[in-house]
Amino acid sequence: MNDIAAQPRRLENLHTDKGKVPVYATGVVEQPWDSYTATDHDVWRRLYARQCELLVGRASEAFLRAQDAMGMTLDAIPRFSDINEVLSAATGWTLIGVEGLLPELDFFDHLANRRFPVTWWIRKPEQFDYIEEPDLFHDLFGHVPLLMNPVFADYMEAYGKGGVKAHGIGADALQHLTRLYWYTVEFGLIREHGQLRIYGSGIVSSSGESIHCLESAAPNRIGFDLERIMRTRYRIDTYQKTYFVIDSFEQLMDATRPDFTPVYARLATQPSLPAGTVLASDHVFQRGSGEGWASDGDV
Ligand SMILES: [Fe+2]
Repeated sequence: MNDIAAQPRRLENLHTDKGKVPVYATGVVEQPWDSYTATDHDVWRRLYARQCELLVGRASEAFLRAQDAMGMTLDAIPRFSDINEVLSAATGWTLIGVEGLLPELDFFDHLANRRFPVTWWIRKPEQFDYIEEPDLFHDLFGHVPLLMNPVFADYMEAYGKGGVKAHGIGADALQHLTRLYWYTVEFGLIREHGQLRIYGSGIVSSSGESIHCLESAAPNRIGFDLERIMRTRYRIDTYQKTYFVIDSFEQLMDATRPDFTPVYARLATQPSLPAGTVLASDHVFQRGSGEGWASDGDV
């Protein structure tokens, strides 16, 4: 095994309303599996073991079942080629290796064609508990298992197609659509057998938020509502103030099937909502206490 880890090729930082976002080379890269160090594999092993223990009884059954079916283990960082054999047979999705976050249109285009970009590098031991940007653990452990679920797999493709369309409509449409991704794919909860469970990848790949999202009194837990979500702002550097709860992946897919063009037109006349807002029209599972909410930043 090589002792010198290959380095991601960061191209530039983009200044956006979410802060500084790193953008990487857009090409698909071969996973440089032989370049992972013993430390890289150890980080994977420790993260994997910790999350697997935490997620029993917290993650959705669909996630846990899919994770088993994929054959990921804690022994070593999985090879994308091994995962792809199982994944493509299940739902026609494939993983592609990338350097990191992609420009939006590239990202949408991959999703629209059932390709999921996975960052090939893994965080350093000193970033064990928190890393600002997606790494291999977040992308592979967090996002990929649910691509084994046929309905969720269709939702992700529909989202990609919607993204390509929104990109052509304009910045506001894109912002509305991005909020949908944030509050579902990244930070969504689902009701199973009357109990809340996690399916969002930002949560399943975070030890702190896996507990916080279900057990803390602070956040709101509100029923899924497409346009309501599209109006809700968020921030990327704290736990969420509000989690949105779906009843099933079918609900997500059904809400996403129609063309969003009239939705964007309606939303253009409505103000966006702070992340912690509860509306009279919300289906509230739990109103958050708001304890410990950061008040800085635009949320
Ligand atoms: Fe993500």
